[in-house]
Amino acid sequence: MIELNFSNMMEEVIGVKGITEKLLESFKNRVEEAHLQIVGRKWKELEFLELPDKETSEIKRIAKEIRGDSDNFLILGIGGSALGPRAILEALSPLHNLLKSPRIFIYDNVDPRTLKQILSIIDLKKTTVNVISKSGSTAETAASFMILWDEMKKAMGNDAAKRFVATTDPESGTLRKLATENNMRTLPIGEGIGGRYSVLSPVGLLLSEVIGIDSDELLKGAKDIHRKCSDHELWQNPAYMFGSLLYLMNTEEKRDINVMIPYADSLKSLSEWFCQLWAESLGKLGLGMTPYPSVGTTDQHSQLQLWMEGPEDKVVIFIRINNYGVDISIPGVFEDIEGMHYLSGHSLSGLIKAEEESTELALAKNGRPNLTINIPLIDAYHLGQLFHFFEIATAFTGFLIGINPFNQPSVEEGKNFTYGMMGKKGFDSKKLEVEQARDKKVCWKI
Ligand code: PA5
Repeated sequence: MIELNFSNMMEEVIGVKGITEKLLESFKNRVEEAHLQIVGRKWKELEFLELPDKETSEIKRIAKEIRGDSDNFLILGIGGSALGPRAILEALSPLHNLLKSPRIFIYDNVDPRTLKQILSIIDLKKTTVNVISKSGSTAETAASFMILWDEMKKAMGNDAAKRFVATTDPESGTLRKLATENNMRTLPIGEGIGGRYSVLSPVGLLLSEVIGIDSDELLKGAKDIHRKCSDHELWQNPAYMFGSLLYLMNTEEKRDINVMIPYADSLKSLSEWFCQLWAESLGKLGLGMTPYPSVGTTDQHSQLQLWMEGPEDKVVIFIRINNYGVDISIPGVFEDIEGMHYLSGHSLSGLIKAEEESTELALAKNGRPNLTINIPLIDAYHLGQLFHFFEIATAFTGFLIGINPFNQPSVEEGKNFTYGMMGKKGFDSKKLEVEQARDKKVCWKI
């Protein structure tokens, strides 16, 4: 089971800039109010809490077909529809395309150079395209889908639809309509599940099965942490404690940056997934905390100086891996050179763990708050726990802040300007607004 160690957030350990037990005790009513919203399912978007109990046989059936007939699996999607699958891929099958088949491509950004490269590598006749969009109307995903549909038609003629799987809303949206009309295989993203809370739905589970990872393990992990994170008692519930501590550091100590630093290359994408979840859910009405993705030990050599001595505006969240599953020992070479020889006989996992622990301690000694999530092993079970833990913690923190953690109104505004510029019906006024703004910008150009 993953574990939260928050000693380095507390006054007893880091001094006056820490949180006191008394403050946490006095905060219990707020925790209870947020808890009641969760257990009372006050928001339909809390449907993500039910994902660990969902049936997965259709996902497995489609994944088996894909493994049997595809050399390439290409995901088209953006935001929550891409970051979750990427986090699973990189955590559970690092360097996948060099080692295993089918090769996986996740095309999210509409950068033409990237798509050209992908198209130059894959044989479309041996490719399954998984187009993922909850709304079914996101411009980036719609554009890449249109391109792939056209290319697939050229390659496969009337059989083109057989090479697609659409993962989208069960009922509504353009993608659902198109998929039904063209007899594509489809997988549903439950009505109340928002993009960034969708990783444990078919959005992430199909990819997981395609790369040979048992999706039931992800769900089992999520189910087990769910039990622990359902306790109304703050001191027993790691997701509530995580959210409460970051919230209090923000409101009481004016720390509004949360650095996420897993000590594993393969969790870098998890860190990016978390950043989207935290930023898009909580950054509203002038409130929220800025997440900042990072990876250890690498960023000790690029960012740590700032965290230690720069502005006192951060909380550092470590993810510590207890067992890396593999290890390499550092050989006894260069015996006469003490600058190197002290490393002999140790292992790489020993070194990375020592660095993680030392960094926690150094920050704490300097009065810089940090907390640690310990994970026993990087596997599907514990990754499922991390996903679900962070989702519960984020929704809970949104309720503490008093905002809606499930919408993204300002992202929608940007989308509407894009629709206007691309000539979508009903968005003429948005186009005009962009053009007027452009004229203003011209005056201030050098
Ligand atoms: O979390 C969210 O809702 C967003 O980040 C979406 O995932 C993103 O905008 C893509 O939306 P959709 O899945 O509807 O294409």
